[in-house]
Amino acid sequence: MRLPPEPVDAITPEPVYRDRRRLLAGLASLPALALSACGRAEPAMPQARIDPARVRAGFATDEPPTREADATSYNNFYEFGTGKADPARAPRTLRTAPWSVAVGGHCARPGLVPLETLLQGLAVQERIYRMRCVEGWSMVIPWRGVPLGEVLRRFEPTAQAKYVAFTSLADPVQMPGVRVPVLDWPYREGLRIDEAMHPLTLLATGMYGKPLPQQNGAPLRLVVPWKYGFKGIKSIVAIDFVERMPRTSWNRAQPSEYGFFANVNPAVDHPRWSQKTERRIAGNGGNLFAERIPTRPFNGYADQVAALYAGMDLRRWY
Ligand code: MTE
Repeated sequence: MRLPPEPVDAITPEPVYRDRRRLLAGLASLPALALSACGRAEPAMPQARIDPARVRAGFATDEPPTREADATSYNNFYEFGTGKADPARAPRTLRTAPWSVAVGGHCARPGLVPLETLLQGLAVQERIYRMRCVEGWSMVIPWRGVPLGEVLRRFEPTAQAKYVAFTSLADPVQMPGVRVPVLDWPYREGLRIDEAMHPLTLLATGMYGKPLPQQNGAPLRLVVPWKYGFKGIKSIVAIDFVERMPRTSWNRAQPSEYGFFANVNPAVDHPRWSQKTERRIAGNGGNLFAERIPTRPFNGYADQVAALYAGMDLRRWY
């Protein structure tokens, strides 16, 4: 294991340094653990075989979709305010064209790529996914987009690309919420490379048969239906292939409440509330008192994705 060089002003006293080396060496020798540059442990990546027929069963659902009016007016997009109604009410200040995404890190073909080029030649697909927010509400949304894996492969990630880091635009002129330090802007998210390459993971450009509205993350956002909604980063401007588990906004703000993996899991409660049930906003007009339904492991996509986490303790890696 290589450690990054220490900056001169961070030189550690010798005994502390030796103790730390010993601790790090001990941790690294534990099976199924690697150590990131900032000293956090990371679980080993299981080698999962993905069965395409099984995965296809997750591309749609018979459950009634959420009304478009609700899905586009009850949002989390703090760059446009912290209230659920704020993003939809915000003036249309986001300039979504031209839009480019900077792709970099461990890949053979990095570059600043116009959105049209990023998606060129890829068939846009329609997917109907259940979406579960960590706050306890859920929706069923007809998305349109391209599998993220097909986009990422174009950049030829190298063997060092173990994770993918995503960054949102953070322009205080276009996004008034960024003037308020409620999060450490820009909004950041990340996936392990196998999660990013999984065929259920969508780079969405539209919903309800139309381009994404500003409040839902125009012009480009992530949709990962087996994870809590905060992983679905909006208005993406950068994608980086990285070797270590990247820092993410909510994990950084409240690590005990928002894990890196954030797989929907009714068996692991949020420290301040249960995750066993959810309030489904579907055809009931965003009714706060809508009947609660049981939450399923991996949001009902266990058949498609549970193999990605074989052998991992999902209480530890929440
Ligand atoms: N992406 C950015 N850039 N900023 C945000 O505040 N909120 C996240 C996620 N992506 C957020 C974001 C959270 S907490 C959720 S639940 C989903 O977006 C909400 O997506 P929706 O408004 O389309 O339902």
